[in-house]
Amino acid sequence: MAEENKNLRTPIVCVMGHVDHGKTTLLDQIRGTAIVKGEAGAITQHIGATEVPIDVIVEKCGDKRLADKFIVPGLLFIDTPGHHAFTTLRSRGGSLADLAIVVVDINEGFKPQTIESLNILKRFKTPFIVVTNKIDRILNWKSHPGESFLSTYKKQTPEVQGIFEQKFYDVIGHLYEQGFSADRFDRVTDFQKTLGVVPISGLTGEGIPDVLMVLLGLAQRFLESSLHYDVNGPGVGTVLEVKEEKGLGTTVDVILYDGSLQKGDTIVIGCLGEPIVTKVRALLKPRELSEIRYESKFQPIPKVTAAAGVKISAPDIGDALAGAPVIQATPETLDEVIEKVKSEI
Ligand code: GTP
Ligand code: MG
Repeated sequence: MAEENKNLRTPIVCVMGHVDHGKTTLLDQIRGTAIVKGEAGAITQHIGATEVPIDVIVEKCGDKRLADKFIVPGLLFIDTPGHHAFTTLRSRGGSLADLAIVVVDINEGFKPQTIESLNILKRFKTPFIVVTNKIDRILNWKSHPGESFLSTYKKQTPEVQGIFEQKFYDVIGHLYEQGFSADRFDRVTDFQKTLGVVPISGLTGEGIPDVLMVLLGLAQRFLESSLHYDVNGPGVGTVLEVKEEKGLGTTVDVILYDGSLQKGDTIVIGCLGEPIVTKVRALLKPRELSEIRYESKFQPIPKVTAAAGVKISAPDIGDALAGAPVIQATPETLDEVIEKVKSEI
């Protein structure tokens, strides 16, 4: 791990796209492979998010020398639902994201929520990549699990390559229609000018090393300056969901994207009326699967540092609003923080 990354926070990567195009499968693949690689424990399951450390990503990319090149501590992936009813959730994910992946089923092509995702990312000016998923379903495609795209592509017959090219350039054409200059990732020389498109199979893992590599490249290029943060600064996050939990009462699931938060801290949460001012009763993370003998699915932790997904238990948070800001306050900053939260609703 490079020295400088100590003060860089983990970039948040949001996975977006049309329903059933394979967002969750892609994340499972990234998560699963990393665990199978004997790195158990290295993957941290967050509330609403999965953290993959840089060492695991670099190993997956197959070139250990990269570890010194990349300065982010890892990537925090957030899944979003593709169903059309979840526009606000997708928009929220999009606004949180430092980077994004738009998943397109290569056999189905562009669909309404593909376009919606692109518009959200345009609006927030989020750097992103597109993956054309499910290449394993192209007629007569021979799968080579876990291999890079170019490696598996070279092993296909000319007929299969032809079918692939046709479907792939159809997607590129649609991207042009949406105003994006796009090309296959290995042909892109400047990711600032051209959108990189990576063909993958979330099911077989083909192309996944390329996805991770291109994401790291984007993080390095676009985010270095915006990822510096003060580990001890006030915690700042966004509410993903307000949830009743057995034994805990009302809780809020939050993605913390700046600073840190501790048990006992005063926080201000946005809602439709006056912002809620309350104290963190407990910070909770999901329990490891090996600990299922416990009654609760959650485990209390004393402190979280951005970027992280965390469940917060606190009094009087029933009116908290999904999508609203959560900001830590001190007696000195409380009035100012309340105004800030109000202005962001
Ligand atoms: P929503 O969360 O409902 O928007 O869907 P999603 O985008 O998360 O899709 P999901 O990962 O749940 O995949 C939908 C279906 O497609 C599942 O049956 C997956 O097994 C299948 N699928 C996903 N990726 C691939 C792939 O690369 N190849 C094949 N053959 N099937 C895939
Ligand atoms: Mg899903």
